[in-house]
Amino acid sequence: MTTPFWIAGKPRTGEHTQVVHSPWDGAVAGEHGVPSAADVEDAVRAADEGRAETAATPAHVRAAALDHVARSLTERADEFAERITAESAKPITWARAEVARGASTFRWAAEEARRLSGELQRLDTDPGGTGRLALVRRVPKGPVLGITPFNFPLNLVAHKVAPAIAAGAPIVLKPAPATPLTALALGELLAETGLPAGSWSVLPTGNDVAATLVADPRLPVVSFTGSVPVGWGIADSVPRKHVALELGGNAAVVVCPDWTDLDHAAARIATFAMYQAGQSCISVQRVYAPRELAGELTDRVVAAVEALGTGDPWRETTAVGPLINVAAAERVESWIREAVGAGGTLRTGGERDGTTLAPTVLTGVPEDARVMADEVFGPVVTVNPVDSVEEAFARVNASRFGLQAGVFTRDVGTAFRASAELAVGGVVVGDVPSYRADQMPYGGVKDSGTGREGPAAAIADLTEEKVTVLTGLPL
Ligand code: SIN
Repeated sequence: MTTPFWIAGKPRTGEHTQVVHSPWDGAVAGEHGVPSAADVEDAVRAADEGRAETAATPAHVRAAALDHVARSLTERADEFAERITAESAKPITWARAEVARGASTFRWAAEEARRLSGELQRLDTDPGGTGRLALVRRVPKGPVLGITPFNFPLNLVAHKVAPAIAAGAPIVLKPAPATPLTALALGELLAETGLPAGSWSVLPTGNDVAATLVADPRLPVVSFTGSVPVGWGIADSVPRKHVALELGGNAAVVVCPDWTDLDHAAARIATFAMYQAGQSCISVQRVYAPRELAGELTDRVVAAVEALGTGDPWRETTAVGPLINVAAAERVESWIREAVGAGGTLRTGGERDGTTLAPTVLTGVPEDARVMADEVFGPVVTVNPVDSVEEAFARVNASRFGLQAGVFTRDVGTAFRASAELAVGGVVVGDVPSYRADQMPYGGVKDSGTGREGPAAAIADLTEEKVTVLTGLPL
């Protein structure tokens, strides 16, 4: 059966269809309708024409809609997890975790929708303001274009859609071409709500259509999650639009000399370097450890990595599945070869079979090799000795990225130094950088992007202050 796309809250199937295949075994995950240029135009026009009605939708309607989606995701968790695994080959256990996070993102957005009240500012601080009061409220900047990647087909969609609904901004969503089915299923849940029809559309179009949408002046806000060149290319192409970018990283872990539980650190590093086959912007890519501990830590990381279940994403014991396509796996394989050619030592992994790449640990890799300096987005981690925490922090900061960092320490002074000195959007103390609670502000500095997600932060980003001055008041 053809899965419909959504134009202004209504399903359409269109004249053309697209089949989505599993990156694991090529099995058909589903088939969806492909919007025509006229469908795309209808979605954009509806968003533009629906901006006043969407902004005026009462908070209780927006919050109830968001709560409905959160509840439905929880009730239909198995079905959504299976859809994520079918189209992305994310291991089913990680897919279930993503559905739980998606529900949480919608629930938090519902809470923020109820809280969005604005504030009063007194103006009688100068004689000219006697009897005057300002009401400062946040209003939507305008319809939002949300563009999402393949690695979290539900929750990164939730991080675009839920804050837009909460803020009262229409959204046109373009999910990743590799994984549109989950976003289209989310449309079924949105269609069951009382949201104005024009307030949302889901367009499973090719990336070629994205440029047209980005350029369209009726969508003044663009919220993009994806690759670094595409993201900054969008920002450069529309300097007058408000653009939020959640881009890549080469997330680092610093193990400090005071950290005694190497087994725990190694287990966390192994799991979160390899989860989703490394296809997360905050998966562990670089580890810096004191020279005297680095050998021991590496041995334990290698052992923990080799103990991870790999292969069939449908198996309950699989922790590491395939990459999204053969080209991605080939690219990562070539970066590993380059690192070894540059003097690195392959401690485990490195072999590729189609879309699957064995979880890989490298040591002795120069800082300018691509597995260190660029975003691998694959199951690869490097372990690197350092002579001091200062050196480790300097090497973390030498990156062109700055999304999140993890610092294994119990020392409160080191924790605060990490927070002050590391040039990243978030520091996780006592754990890997791959931790994200969905209510947290999440985003990066430098090439990793601009703006923050997390419902409260995203609502602030999608709205701007509007002042109403009241005069002649008996204050
Ligand atoms: C990302 O890959 O940017 C998202 C990570 C997450 O939400 O856990």
